[in-house]
Amino acid sequence: MYNSKIIGLGKYVPENVVTNDDLSKMMDTNDAWIQERTGIQERRWIENGSEDTSAIMGAKASEIAIERSGINKEDIDFIVFATMTPDYYFPGCGVQIQELLGLNNVGAIDIRNQCSGFVYAVSVADQFIKTGMYKNILVVGAEYHSNGLDKTTRGRGVTVIFGDGAGACIMSREEDTTKGVLSTHLHSEGKYAEKLIVESPSIRHWVPQILESEEEDLSYFPYMDGTFVFKHAVVRFSEVIMEGLMKNGMQKDDIDMLIPHQANLRIAQFIQKKFGLGDDQVFNNIMKYGNTTAASVIIALTEAWEEGKIKEGDNVVLAAFGSGFTWGSAIIKW
Ligand code: UT7
Repeated sequence: MYNSKIIGLGKYVPENVVTNDDLSKMMDTNDAWIQERTGIQERRWIENGSEDTSAIMGAKASEIAIERSGINKEDIDFIVFATMTPDYYFPGCGVQIQELLGLNNVGAIDIRNQCSGFVYAVSVADQFIKTGMYKNILVVGAEYHSNGLDKTTRGRGVTVIFGDGAGACIMSREEDTTKGVLSTHLHSEGKYAEKLIVESPSIRHWVPQILESEEEDLSYFPYMDGTFVFKHAVVRFSEVIMEGLMKNGMQKDDIDMLIPHQANLRIAQFIQKKFGLGDDQVFNNIMKYGNTTAASVIIALTEAWEEGKIKEGDNVVLAAFGSGFTWGSAIIKW
């Protein structure tokens, strides 16, 4: 058995910055409400006419990750792509990455686990590497939310939160099993599927139903019972981080860097306080990008690394919670 190690990181966000004041021109909202409830100051939204999509942003982030990893494209054995906003209903974005990057005809899978998608993707890649089946895996998280949001006052409870962007990493075989990904922990609770959902288009609610609907059909906009999700998030985040620490015989103060999914700054601050972590032990960038769902953990991990906040030997914890409900953590010895 081997371990897997992250050897290259990259991110890409669209140039177009949308501030809270910009949103208040589209709907009844304001900078004070958004900052106080979420911590978000601005987000990136793909501009009309841009070539960017989830797959294309994912490819741009991947180019950087591959370059920084020092491996060649020919050395990539497999692709794992996490997104809830794929370019097509099918096929998934993974195969587009294979084509866009000109990779060998390696396997590609998409992970549909929303906010915890990247943590799930890391776990999937880790299993393939552990068993020796693959040596180098490209793991991508990307979201193009802005084209699917209700940009009227009706949608303000959800729309102000989400941003577009992508991150990617190369996970590679590590012979020393005391290094790299030490463990991953994945959970789900499907009874709450409809608490955070985009209902259609789906095979149950497809074009005929949408066209027949007499009233305006809102089922293709995201719906979230925000307060309900918030309450579950703080509990599940804490549980799944503790689960990871206990599995590895670690204490709270063994955490050198926690990278929480960027859903709401208040959630991250609650976890920080609960675990008694200092400001230098938790990385947040939701202020700049909003919630980029499957891209949020990898964008934050990349920025933390770029800013020199992660050093060799550090205990890095990734944790996420979201739609499904699904949640998970990964404990990494950097
Ligand atoms: O990433 C996946 C997981 N997602 C999460 O973990 C998100 C969890 N939930 C949250 O982050 C928070 O629940 C939200 C940020 C979504 C909402 O914050 P909240 O403190 O729970 O606010 P609320 O939904 O209870 O709304 C409070 C008030 C309402 O008005 P009334 O009924 O009190 O008059 C809303 O209509 O704020 C109003 N409101 C807004 N006002 C201005 C909702 N959205 C907005 C807005 N601007 N954008």
